[in-house]
This record gives sequence, C-alpha cells and structure tokens, in this order.
Amino acid sequence: MVEILKTPEDLRAFSKNLRAQNKTLGFVPTMGALHEGHLTLARTALENCDACIISIFVNPKQFAPHEDFDRYPRQLDKDAELLASVGVDAVFAPDIEVMYPKDFQTTVSLSEITKPLEGEFRPTHFAGVSTVVTRLLLLVGADKAFFGEKDYQQLRLIKQLAKDLAIPTEIIGVPIVREKSGLALSSRNAYLSAEERPIADQLNVILKTMASEFKSGDAISDIEHRAAQKLLEIGFRKIDYITIRDAETLLPPTIETKSHRILAAAFLGKTRLIDNISAD
Ligand code: PAJ
Repeated sequence: MVEILKTPEDLRAFSKNLRAQNKTLGFVPTMGALHEGHLTLARTALENCDACIISIFVNPKQFAPHEDFDRYPRQLDKDAELLASVGVDAVFAPDIEVMYPKDFQTTVSLSEITKPLEGEFRPTHFAGVSTVVTRLLLLVGADKAFFGEKDYQQLRLIKQLAKDLAIPTEIIGVPIVREKSGLALSSRNAYLSAEERPIADQLNVILKTMASEFKSGDAISDIEHRAAQKLLEIGFRKIDYITIRDAETLLPPTIETKSHRILAAAFLGKTRLIDNISAD
C-alpha cells in the first residue's frame, strides 16, 4: 500500500526517514485522475531516484471561474491503487486548508514566459500554477521533480521559477505519453464523447503535418492557417492557437531561434484539448 500523507508534518517525517537512509527523493505533482502519462512520470522518478512521492491536489487557484474545477475528476482511492502498482512510496494529498491556510497572501508570478499562448487565453492560470508548484516544491524538498512536456509552457515556466527562486530541486521534463492514435493522454479526455474521440485523434495528426511542412520550408503563416482551417473543418469548435514557436521563449521564431515547437489548444465541444510536438 502507498502511504497517504496529509500534512507538512507527515511530509517532514517521511523525508527525515529517507534522509536517514541516505536515499534520494523524486517528486511528481499532479491533480489526480491518474493515467499512463502520470504513471510514466512516476516510473521516471523511480528510475532516477531511490524513492518517489506524488502529490494529488486539484488546485482551485489555477482554474478560472468558468472552468471545470467543480467537475474535474476526483478518484483518490483508484489513484492510490494505481500508484501502489507502480511502486510509488507515498502520496501527498493535502486538504485545501493545508495548501492555502486562511491567511495565505502570496502569489508567485512570472513575466515573459507566461505572456503568450496559454497566458493569453487563460490569463489567471499560470499564477495559480506557479504559486502551488512553488509551495509544493518547498514542502516536499525533493532532489528532482518531474513534469510532462504535455503542458509544455508550464514546464518552461517551472524551470524558470526554480532557477529564479533558487529552489534546490532539479526540474526534469518527460516526453508526452500518447494513445496509439497519437492523442495525448489527459484527464480531460474523459469528457470526450464517442463521436468526439476520432476527431480528437486528428489533432496530433495535424501537428505532425505541420512539422513536415515546416521541414520542407513552407511559410509559417501558411502552415498555421491551413492547420486552423483543417481543425475547424473536422469539427473543432474554437481554436485558441495552433502555431509554430521558438521552443525556448514560445514567441514567434526569429533568426536567433535554435529550436521550434508546434503548439495547439482547441475546443472540441466543451473540452479544451492541448498538444505540442517538436518541429525540428
Ligand atoms: P496534471 O494535469 O494532473 O498533470 C500532472 C503532470 O502530468 C504534469 O507535469 C503534466 O504535464 C503531466 N502529464 C499529463 N498528461 C501527460 C501525458 N500525456 N504525458 C506526459 N505527461 C503528462 O499539470 C498539472 O496537473 C498541474 O498544473 C500541477 C503541475 C499539478 C499544478 O497544480
């Protein structure tokens, strides 16, 4: 069975015990409703560290009022079983009062990296993410923490904040885990209807087409325009962005750009899907 930790005191006791045995600790923050993507992060943590702790906390601060905080899937018992099968040592599943005590006053916010893409369409999202992740990283005090490339901009900003705030945990990115069809695994895929599934599968196919067009030298604006048209044609309702960016800054590429990333966010019915791939 996985040990369930609820408080900072539980966490301290857990890490003290590990440290006494000279063991290294890996950390995987999540919002639960675990799937193979999360489990791959946990396995990667266990390959790189002696022990792994995973947190499950649906963070209200990163959801806007109109978003899906209330209906976000919650299934702690099932999650704990899955984690036991992977060999995770402990789950940190704090109550809201533990993460945000009544007098909580701090917001961690980053500038440049949070402005484009997700930042434009979910303007309050990243301050919620960076605040909770900073608190989690400091509470857990792991040697290494693992984040998926699925949330590519999130990974970039967490690397930046760990560097800026001198947080002594190494931040490691892990490639996206996908269905056979190419659809990136996501807790939100549970919202998709049987009719929407095959349409969702096309998102990654379209990104791959964009990558090969980019490699053959087509103009970026043409590639982006064709891709957006295609998404709407096959049944996506609204596109936030589908774009080729500098993989570091997430701004439009310049002559300084060393590597390129293709990123997309679009609505299929009520479900907002995101995906990204390398363009190089
Ligand atoms: P959540 O969406 O639960 O994701 C937890 C971690 O799993 C993130 O690092 C995310 O990028 C990774 N992940 C999700 N799907 C993946 C996939 N298909 N392949 C690889 N990794 C995947 O991201 C969050 O939670 C929150 O914002 C959090 C960081 C926990 C802060 O609240």
